[in-house]
Amino acid sequence: MRRSLVMGNWKMNGTLASAELLVKGIVAGLGENSADIAVCVPYVHVPKISELVKGTALALGAQNVADKPSGAFTGEISAAMLSEFNCKYALVGHSERRSYYGDTNESVAARFCQAQEQNIIPVLCVGETLEQREQDQTFAVIDAQLDAVISLAGIAAFGAAVIAYEPVWAIGTGKTATDEQAQEVHQYIRKYIAAKDQAIADQIQILYGGSAKPDNAKGLFAMPDIDGGLIGGASLDAESFLKIYHSI
Ligand code: G3P
Repeated sequence: MRRSLVMGNWKMNGTLASAELLVKGIVAGLGENSADIAVCVPYVHVPKISELVKGTALALGAQNVADKPSGAFTGEISAAMLSEFNCKYALVGHSERRSYYGDTNESVAARFCQAQEQNIIPVLCVGETLEQREQDQTFAVIDAQLDAVISLAGIAAFGAAVIAYEPVWAIGTGKTATDEQAQEVHQYIRKYIAAKDQAIADQIQILYGGSAKPDNAKGLFAMPDIDGGLIGGASLDAESFLKIYHSI
């Protein structure tokens, strides 16, 4: 039976003080829940949040990771640096990294592998733009995003990874995919992996991201191939994030 996972992506928001308050609010409201929970925080907050989550069920994640292990790559943060702070997860290939900062399927695959080199669980973000969906390219886009990782790391690598399906047209727009739209793509992703390794397909967590909120999370999480959520805006408020977490 797959474990569920609710993960916050704070993006480039907050101060150290607000981050500390947010984490304390989340930890205070965890209660009894068998689902996993994590927050992906800005790099500069990693050390402090690492301290605050120690001994709690709240896991720490990063929002990106370098595609090289070390060296003359100004501004990059390596997986080794993140692992010094017990970072459990790292987002790779978030659509904002792909569209604003030029991440390609190949560089995302390299970031994926760097995370795994340091026993950090990569959260591979995949998804289509509205134009690609309207042109019936959704599955072709996701095939290419998955294939780039499989080509570099092999299907076995998905045995220690998470996938997040984030329709770009639903991110930050308030335009959430319907439960059925999300389930269709999640099922496609799981079948795509099952064709190469059924055991991995059965256990891999596939999260939905894109305007997931307390009022729509329950319906999304009820879908058979949706194992949780990657939450942006709603993760910046402890009460909203906890409502989503407790609806799984
Ligand atoms: O990574 C999660 C994010 O892209 C979703 O953002 O604000 O639509 O929940 P939001």
